[in-house]
Formats: sequence, structure tokens, C-alpha cells
Amino acid sequence: MSILKVARMGHPILRTVADAIPDEMLRSPEIQQLIDDMVDTMVEYDGVGLAAPQVHQSWRLFVMEVPSDSPRYGETGAVQPLTIVVNPEYSPIGDDHVESMEGCLSIPDVMGLVPRHERIKVRFQGRDGKLVEGELSGFPAIVFQHEYDHLDGVLYIDRMESLETLSFRREYERFGRLDGE
Ligand code: NI
Repeated sequence: MSILKVARMGHPILRTVADAIPDEMLRSPEIQQLIDDMVDTMVEYDGVGLAAPQVHQSWRLFVMEVPSDSPRYGETGAVQPLTIVVNPEYSPIGDDHVESMEGCLSIPDVMGLVPRHERIKVRFQGRDGKLVEGELSGFPAIVFQHEYDHLDGVLYIDRMESLETLSFRREYERFGRLDGE
């Protein structure tokens, strides 16, 4: 088990479009170890998702897990089992959007309000290379979109419609959203 160092905002790798992982490389011990280490790192820092560029590896790979004891679980009631996502694609289902107060391990201690698609169709490879297709909604769909953005060098603050809601976590817990909702 290894806990990996997390790149913070300002590191150029977080602004780099990551490369797809070819099948033969996905099977390599290096990538399989990276996946295990990313899971350990996500759990260590109480994250619900972690993308490879956040641990200085510019690959189209992320891990996600929404346990039932996550503070955000209660909002949508949707649990996401541990999922390894390789070379993902997604598309929105319908026009519904949700507003999501998001944080990011690469932007420690702050949160901001981001619009996301409520339901998405997803397609990716698992760690064994097998194709996975499905639909996500609620908080797991938000996490998927947030982590996917990391693969394109996009951070959640880029998606905020206003910086008014940008808050330190402690102040958010104390005062709530500053736009009054
Ligand atoms: Ni993030």
C-alpha cells in the first residue's frame, strides 16, 4: 500500500489533457499498481474520487467510491461501489442540471457551487480492460463528471458560474451557501 502525493492547483499536470491507456499498458504491473495506490490514496484522504493526473500520472484513469457514510450520500441516496474507470466517455441524458457544492483534493479546504448534468450515460473500461456501459444519476454522476474533467485538465472552479459561493470548508459548514439557498 502506498499513499501517493497529490498535485495541487498550480501544478501544470492538472492543466494537461491526459493520454488514453492502451490495452497492453493497462495490463502492466505499473498501471495495476497505480490503480491500487490511487484507491489507497483516495481512501486515506476521505475523497469520493481521484483522477490519475492528481497523482502526477497523465493517464485517462480515475477511481470513485461513494460509501453510505459519505456526507453527500444523504442528498441523493445513491451509493457508488468502488469503481475503476479507464478511458471513459459520457454524455448527458436529458437537459436536467443539478447544482453541486464541490471540493477537490487538489484545491484543499475550499468548496464551490458547480452546475452538472443530473443524469449521464457512461462508457469506460474496467481495470481488466472489459467495457462497462451504464447510467449514473445524482451524486455518483456528479463525481464522474468532476473526475472526468481532471482528464481534460479542467478543474471545478472553471465550471463555476459565479465565484460568490467559493468558500473555505469550515466557513461553509458554519454559514452555508452564500447565495442564500
Ligand atoms: Ni478533483
